[in-house]
Amino acid sequence: MILSLLLITVTLPFSLCLIIKVVQEYERAVIFRLGRLLSGGAKGPGLFCIVPCIDSYSKVDMRTVSFDVPPQEVLTKDSVTVAVDAVVYFRVQNATMSIANVEDSNRSTKLLAQTTLRNVLGTKNLSEILSERESISHLMQSSLDEATDPWGVKVERVEVKDVRLPVQLQRAMAAEAEATREARAKVIAAEGEQRASRALKEAADVMCESHVALQLRYLQTLSTISAEKNSTIIFPLPIDLLQNFVSRPSPDKIHL
Ligand SMILES: *[C@@H]1O[C@H](CO)[C@@H](O)[C@H](O)[C@H]1NC(C)=O
Ligand SMILES: *[C@@H]1O[C@H](CO)[C@@H](O)[C@H](O)[C@H]1NC(C)=O
Ligand SMILES: *[C@@H]1O[C@H](CO)[C@@H](O)[C@H](O)[C@H]1NC(C)=O
Ligand SMILES: *[C@@H]1O[C@H](CO)[C@@H](O)[C@H](O)[C@H]1NC(C)=O
Repeated sequence: MILSLLLITVTLPFSLCLIIKVVQEYERAVIFRLGRLLSGGAKGPGLFCIVPCIDSYSKVDMRTVSFDVPPQEVLTKDSVTVAVDAVVYFRVQNATMSIANVEDSNRSTKLLAQTTLRNVLGTKNLSEILSERESISHLMQSSLDEATDPWGVKVERVEVKDVRLPVQLQRAMAAEAEATREARAKVIAAEGEQRASRALKEAADVMCESHVALQLRYLQTLSTISAEKNSTIIFPLPIDLLQNFVSRPSPDKIHL
C-alpha cells in the first residue's frame, strides 16, 4: 500500500490517469481493495479514486433491463400442454450485492424467471391461465422478486405475453364457441319470430273487428305502391269498396 502510494507521488501528473475513474449517472462502481469489499458501499455516479495495483473495481449498470423468457412448455393442472412466454423487467438495486453475492446476476435472473414461470403455471388450470393473466403476472413478479432479493436485483414487472394452445385444442375450443354462438342466434331469431307473429295476430284481430279498417289498409297499400314505383299501375276497381255500401262483404271477395 505504502509502495503504491509512493509510486503515485513520484509519477504524480501521469498517475492521475490511473487513479481517477468516472462512472455514468446510471452506473455504480464496486471496489475491492486487496480482495476485500471497500467499506462505504458502491461509488458513483461521477468521479472516484482507486489505488492502482491494489484496487480492482467493476461497474454495475443500474438501469432497468428487460428480457424475453423463451416459450415454456407447461403442463397445466388439468393436463393440457401450453406454451407460454413472458417479458421480465428488472434492475440492480444494490450494486454491491449483485457483484458479491452472485456470479452473473443477468443470467441467474433469466434462468430463475423460466423456472418460476413453469412453477406458477403448473399450479393453474387452463381456464385460469387464459382468464387471469394479470394475477399470474403479479404472482410471478412477487415470487421472482423475493428470490432475487439476495442478489440485489429488483424485479419490477412481469408480463405474460402469449399463451399458445395445442392446435387440436384450439380447434375444439373454436368449434365449441361457434356452436354456442349459433345456438344463441337461433334462440334470438325464434324469439323475434314469436314476437312478430304475436304482433301480426293482434293486427289481424284489430282488422277483423272492423272491415272498414281492411279497406283502408287496401287503399294505403295502393298509394304506397304508386309512390314507390314511378309507373302507371292498372288495377281493377275495388269492388269491395262499392260493396261496402251495398252489403257486408265476405273476406273471400277481397282480392285485386
Ligand atoms: C447494499 O447491500 C449491502 C450489504 O447487504 C449493504 O451494506 C448496503 O447498505 C446496501 N446498499 C444499499 C444502497 O442499500
Ligand atoms: C446485464 O445486462 C446489461 C444489459 O444488457 C449489461 O449492461 C450488464 O453488463 C449485464 N451484467 C452482467 C453482470 O453481465
Ligand atoms: C380451475 O381451478 C379453479 C380453482 O382452483 C376452479 O374453481 C375451476 O373450476 C377450475 N376449472 C376447471 C375447468 O377445472
Ligand atoms: C316519374 O316519371 C315521369 C315520366 O316518366 C317523370 O316526368 C317524372 O320526373 C318521374 N318522377 C320521379 C319522381 O322520378
